[in-house]
Amino acid sequence: MRFTDTVTVITGAGAGMGRATALRLAAEGGKIMCLDLSAESAAETAELVRAAGGAAESFRCDVRDRAAIEAARDYAIKSFGAVHNLVNSAGALTMQGLADTDDAGWNLVMDVNVKGVFLMLQAFVPEIERAGGGSIVNITSIEAEVVVASGENTQPHYACSKGAVKTMTRTLAHDLGRKNIRINAIAPGLIATGFGGSNPGSERYQQYVHEHSALRRAGQADEIAGAIAFLLSKDASYVTGAQLPVDGGWLIY
Ligand SMILES: NC(=O)c1ccc[n+]([C@@H]2O[C@H](COP(=O)([O-])OP(=O)(O)OC[C@H]3O[C@@H](n4cnc5c(N)ncnc54)[C@H](O)[C@@H]3O)[C@@H](O)[C@H]2O)c1
Repeated sequence: MRFTDTVTVITGAGAGMGRATALRLAAEGGKIMCLDLSAESAAETAELVRAAGGAAESFRCDVRDRAAIEAARDYAIKSFGAVHNLVNSAGALTMQGLADTDDAGWNLVMDVNVKGVFLMLQAFVPEIERAGGGSIVNITSIEAEVVVASGENTQPHYACSKGAVKTMTRTLAHDLGRKNIRINAIAPGLIATGFGGSNPGSERYQQYVHEHSALRRAGQADEIAGAIAFLLSKDASYVTGAQLPVDGGWLIY
């Protein structure tokens, strides 16, 4: 019960890693504010948490929208009185390469993955500071470290966006350390959520994962949730500015 009496705000909480993290933290006593672009899926996650005996609320929030984030922050404070932790899991990917990345693809990926994290930090860090400190986890990717070319080519805009969040995490660890706030990143390998339109059931996906991960399988969302719970908890009280790969050994090659 490492999260008793704490409130955690999660973006992208309507699916995948965000949902798994909501369920995991709530199972350890935490109260959860589920944010997602989809009001329905955020509400569904909150309902799943409550059905399991936990405490959760939901709010529709597009992380590209400063006003929506500020409204979500106000709702979190109204609902729970404080915010201690933040997980930035919302993400976007378009399967576009150098030649075919148009303005729409570039802007979507950069705005959700980079600006969205920045706007969330701007809005929520003062609240976490007011609560006496806390912990933040951003989700990057192994693509911040190595080239991943699962299709015909890489997705350079996506890889750049995750590299940017890695740097943001390290840079802000300096500023937030003096506020008693830790900030870390998790770099997932291939996780079977269907993110970006991927099909974890397909032969091509299975083969790609088999070739690149030491564990010869894709990860599951709750395996990321476990690592997020560690970084948010007091078990990681001296860890900040770090990026933890949770990738089945992808980065050893
Ligand atoms: N699944 C993987 O293999 C993998 C690997 C490395 C990194 N990641 C990263 O992990 C994070 C979580 O991905 P996932 O696998 O859980 O994906 P997912 O598609 O299951 O969940 C992503 C959630 O983010 C929400 N979202 C998208 N745009 C949003 C916006 N503008 N505002 C608010 N919410 C928004 C979606 O509605 C969805 O509920 C992402 O940042 C992704 O880049 C995923």
